[in-house]
Amino acid sequence: MSSPLVSIIGAGKVGSTLAQRIIEKNLADVVLLDVIGGLPQGIALDLSQAQGLERHDRAIAGTNDYTDTANSDLVVITAGIPRKPGMSRDDLIATNAKIVVEAAQKAIAYSPNAVFIVVTNPLDVMTYLVWQALKIPAERVMGMAGVLDSARLQTFIAMEMKVAIADVSAMVLGGHGDLMVPLPKYCTVRGIPIAELLDGSTIERLVERTRHGGAELVKLFKTGGAYYAPASSVCQMVEAILHDLSRLLPAAAYVQGEYGLDDLFIGVPCRLGSKGIESVLELPISDSERKALHISAADVRENVEKALKMVEIN
Ligand code: NAI
Ligand code: 2OP
Repeated sequence: MSSPLVSIIGAGKVGSTLAQRIIEKNLADVVLLDVIGGLPQGIALDLSQAQGLERHDRAIAGTNDYTDTANSDLVVITAGIPRKPGMSRDDLIATNAKIVVEAAQKAIAYSPNAVFIVVTNPLDVMTYLVWQALKIPAERVMGMAGVLDSARLQTFIAMEMKVAIADVSAMVLGGHGDLMVPLPKYCTVRGIPIAELLDGSTIERLVERTRHGGAELVKLFKTGGAYYAPASSVCQMVEAILHDLSRLLPAAAYVQGEYGLDDLFIGVPCRLGSKGIESVLELPISDSERKALHISAADVRENVEKALKMVEIN
């Protein structure tokens, strides 16, 4: 039986960890591509040598050549630079815009039917650029951020309440930045809204930690950002798409009127399946949550406009 193929562009921390997650969960064969000669080949060889121990039967190859990514079912773009302490995700625009546009154009040339997941920051901005570069229907393009931001909030709730993480569910919308919009009313422990279990100031503290969850790790690592939880987050999206699971996950999706937003990629709850974004779900949100979402969207839009001036998309 032929295996699905996932190509990962960028064999850095996130890309290589994601490759490991995908093959060790037996989800797909993986091609890992990077501009650095030897790096993806070395990672692929190392991961292959673990194959007999991890007991999966998925193949992994490393390459610097896009022809090796041909006929991918899914392409994940993690190429680009991460933040250093003191930098915001938006400080990465100029460098990463050129990298993701080139990666998208090269990858689509060999995999015209693939679904694309963008990881490179600033996430919502890069996802828009990738879509512009790909010239494919928007439902086949999405960014990963909401799964990660929600996972962080889930963890902080579980840690605070000393309950099993399996019982906690959280939902974070908006752009992947300090203006993200966690929705405490859709955060539950075994179906019980957290407002019934925690006081308002505790919830606000957990929400604030989530907003700065990426920066907290950049400060600790000093030379880059998070990668284990980001890789797990992308892997959950990859599984939902490859196995056509119709999972309800927050993702940066193209909005066309939902939540009063238009012509943007931004974090919204989506149904993910084999076609990519199968639908965007409009949750009832309060006026203040809607206002916060619009503030976040305005910030994304401003940076998309900035980015479009920095890169040529043919
Ligand atoms: P990293 O520096 O470890 O890896 C990036 C890789 O991209 C490097 O190996 C580099 O050689 C490669 N690269 C650079 N230009 C390339 C090109 N033109 N073609 C192919 N490969 C190229 O960085 P890391 O930690 O893996 O992060 C990658 C990106 O993902 C960063 O922009 C980071 O901010 C972002 N990120 C986003 C998250 C999210 O929630 N959306 C979470 C974690 C990271
Ligand atoms: C994060 O939130 C770096 O955006 C990445 O960890």
